[in-house]
Amino acid sequence: MSLNCQLPWYGPIVRIEPEPVIVASTVILRPWCAQDVTALTEIYRDPVSMQYIDVPQPYDANRATEFVLRAAGSRAAGTAFHYAVTLPDADTVLGSAYLHNIATSEVASDVSFLIHPRHRGRGWATAALVALSDAALHAGFRHIYARIDPSNSASESVVARAGFSRLRVEEGEVCWSRP
Ligand SMILES: CC(C)(COP(=O)(O)OP(=O)(O)OC[C@H]1O[C@@H](n2cnc3c(N)ncnc32)[C@H](O)[C@@H]1OP(=O)(O)O)[C@@H](O)C(=O)NCCC(=O)NCCS
Repeated sequence: MSLNCQLPWYGPIVRIEPEPVIVASTVILRPWCAQDVTALTEIYRDPVSMQYIDVPQPYDANRATEFVLRAAGSRAAGTAFHYAVTLPDADTVLGSAYLHNIATSEVASDVSFLIHPRHRGRGWATAALVALSDAALHAGFRHIYARIDPSNSASESVVARAGFSRLRVEEGEVCWSRP
């Protein structure tokens, strides 16, 4: 006797994985590595950033070391893509930019970014956001969302300049989208 078992067809599972190294004209986005622990600690201790980014405090070298390993794991699992934003000449770490909250059903991802206070106001966040969202859309994401606290005017300037459009207000945050 043969069993005529019909399985539902969900279509191929497509894995979206933006390039690990993204080279733009003014910045390079690359994976975090063990040598970045000091830079990470400084970036994720900044009180202004912590108003807008949810990271456990106090942020110390142990947390940074653990994060470097976790970032590699989330890339391997396809659940988040973390990048160090660096300068091409000397590999100076300027900040952090990452894709997270990946919504497979919508083929969408959130993006977040922060720049070390010492390097702000020179266009690095905008350059990093353009480079990362271009790479994410090129890799196959259909939408990239940036969720911005309405009091965060610097961030609003960055997303508007990076080509995002204001979409809606969700849970007290303004959701911006590309495309
Ligand atoms: C938001 C942030 C990433 C901007 O980084 P940056 O490298 O200084 O950004 P850019 O130089 O590309 O652009 C900054 C823009 O904000 C403006 N800006 C800077 N500080 C500002 C402030 N306090 N109020 C209003 N606008 C401000 C700048 O004038 C510039 O806009 P303009 O070129 O139109 O004048 C940085 O301030 C930061 O790390 N903040 C804390 C973390 C954060 O808020 N992340 C976003 C959450 S997703």
